Amino acid sequence: MKFLQKLPEQALRILVVFVILATGMLLVRQFVIPADMKDMTLIQTATMEREADKEAKYAGAAVCVQCHEKQQEIKRGGYHRDLSCESCHDAAQKHADSPTEVKPVSPRKRDYCVYCHSYNASRPTGFPQINPDTHNPRKPCITCHNPHNPKPTQPPRSCAACHAQIERTKAASYHAQLACTVCHTTPEKHKTEPRTVTPTKPDKREFCGKCHSEGKGAKGVPTVDMATHGEKYVCWQCHYPHMLGGI
Ligand code: HEC
Ligand code: HEC
Ligand code: HEC
Ligand code: HEC
Ligand code: HEC
Ligand code: HEC
Ligand code: HEC
Ligand code: HEC
Repeated sequence: MKFLQKLPEQALRILVVFVILATGMLLVRQFVIPADMKDMTLIQTATMEREADKEAKYAGAAVCVQCHEKQQEIKRGGYHRDLSCESCHDAAQKHADSPTEVKPVSPRKRDYCVYCHSYNASRPTGFPQINPDTHNPRKPCITCHNPHNPKPTQPPRSCAACHAQIERTKAASYHAQLACTVCHTTPEKHKTEPRTVTPTKPDKREFCGKCHSEGKGAKGVPTVDMATHGEKYVCWQCHYPHMLGGI
């Protein structure tokens, strides 16, 4: 009990309040709450029964395929291969049960595709994104992109189609005038099969030195002494090349 006297007065008060609250809660649990509300297995079973009673709404992709092999075949080889049928056609168990009476919805309007494809900085690099205000406005997306295999009619013209965030930061940097391909040799196939063929990335200090080493730089290009500046580190450990605004 001696240590209690050593505590500052405020701490003692908080302790008293805490003890009262804790005792109160224990008493309520012991005498007020009915026994069946404290039994975890009872609660779990009740929840499971309630959920199991709900109408099953999603059929699952395996079911759709039984009658729609053609759509599945088209989708399998395309960019949307990982999307399930019902992520676009909505829960369609009722349709699977009685196909001619209940028709599932088909998202034919632009706003549905935009849900996943409008530009958003938090999306992973390389995820195909567009600006719906400028990307072929007004026409429904499905006039040009088959929803089951949305291959564009021609490869994208700019890197920004899939690297919009990098394009945006670069546009405001010292390197705004440099094309992406100055630093990344990009095989044409990268634009249609981005994951199978990737562009090169600079891998040595000398790469930046082509323009920035003393004596070599063109007019107006700031130069550094390659031997001492930054020494053993690669340049982009200190200068992120897409976002140069000084560090
Ligand atoms: C038992 C067979 C069967 C199953 C299972 C089935 N469908 Fe169908 N589906 C049909 C038939 C038949 C039609 C054509 C109905 C008509 O035009 O009268 C159809 C039509 C459709 C249509 C076009 C609707 C329209 O507006 O014309 C879509 C979309 C569709 N199905 C999606 C699905 C999805 C998604 C699933 C999986 C959840 C699914 N189907 C499961 C038989 C099936
Ligand atoms: C990215 C969204 C999306 C996904 C994923 C998708 N669909 Fe569709 N589907 C559509 C749209 C949009 C249409 C309407 C096309 C049109 O009207 O030209 C459609 C049309 C259909 C039709 C009508 C006939 C046709 O081919 O146009 C059927 C049947 C169908 N889908 C079944 C499926 C099945 C089965 C799957 C899964 C294997 C699936 N869809 C996956 C968006 C999708
Ligand atoms: C639920 C999210 C989702 C919806 C909705 C969706 N997509 Fe996609 N889309 C994806 C994914 C995932 C990929 C594949 C990305 C990858 O390969 O990295 C993709 C890829 C694409 C591509 C890229 C092809 C390429 O050249 O890289 C196009 C075009 C496309 N979708 C168009 C559409 C259209 C049109 C619609 C509406 C009918 C639509 N998407 C609806 C998720 C979606
Ligand atoms: C008039 C035809 C047309 C319409 C309508 C259209 N697109 Fe495209 N889309 C294209 C073409 C062509 C390309 C490739 C060239 C380019 O980048 O402009 C493309 C590229 C794309 C890409 C980038 C894919 C890639 O390979 O990088 C996405 C994502 C995309 N479209 C989604 C959509 C969505 C979502 C809509 C509707 C909001 C839509 N498109 C409407 C023709 C169209
Ligand atoms: C159709 C979409 C698409 C287009 C268009 C595209 N890219 Fe990519 N890019 C990707 C994807 C997806 C990845 C990620 C690949 C991975 O992580 O395996 C990627 C990765 C990269 C990488 C990193 C490679 C690595 O080894 O880390 C570079 C660099 C790159 N792209 C540059 C470019 C340049 C430059 C252009 C334009 C000339 C371009 N990309 C056009 C989708 C695209
Ligand atoms: C001045 C040279 C330079 C220019 C111009 C440039 N990059 Fe890069 N990029 C680099 C370097 C260096 C790396 C490697 C960074 C690292 O490894 O940390 C890189 C990395 C990447 C990566 C891999 C992911 C990441 O963010 O590190 C992608 C994707 C990429 N660049 C795309 C582009 C695109 C698209 C453009 C044009 C909009 C572009 N780059 C312009 C030098 C450049
Ligand atoms: C093709 C020539 C070229 C290459 C290659 C190049 N740069 Fe540059 N860089 C420039 C030019 C031109 C400017 C100045 C633009 C201006 O001031 O308007 C610049 C500006 C800079 C600046 C800003 C300097 C300041 O004044 O603060 C830095 C830092 C820089 N570059 C780093 C790099 C790095 C790191 C690499 C390698 C990944 C690289 N550069 C590759 C041409 C190049
Ligand atoms: C250890 C970090 C570090 C590394 C590595 C590094 N830098 Fe720098 N760099 C800086 C700092 C900090 C500044 C700004 C202060 C200064 O001017 O010294 C700078 C400034 C610059 C400038 C602007 C000079 C001016 O006169 O305005 C250029 C150009 C440059 N760096 C290019 C490079 C290149 C090219 C490499 C690779 C060979 C590189 N840097 C490596 C930290 C680094």
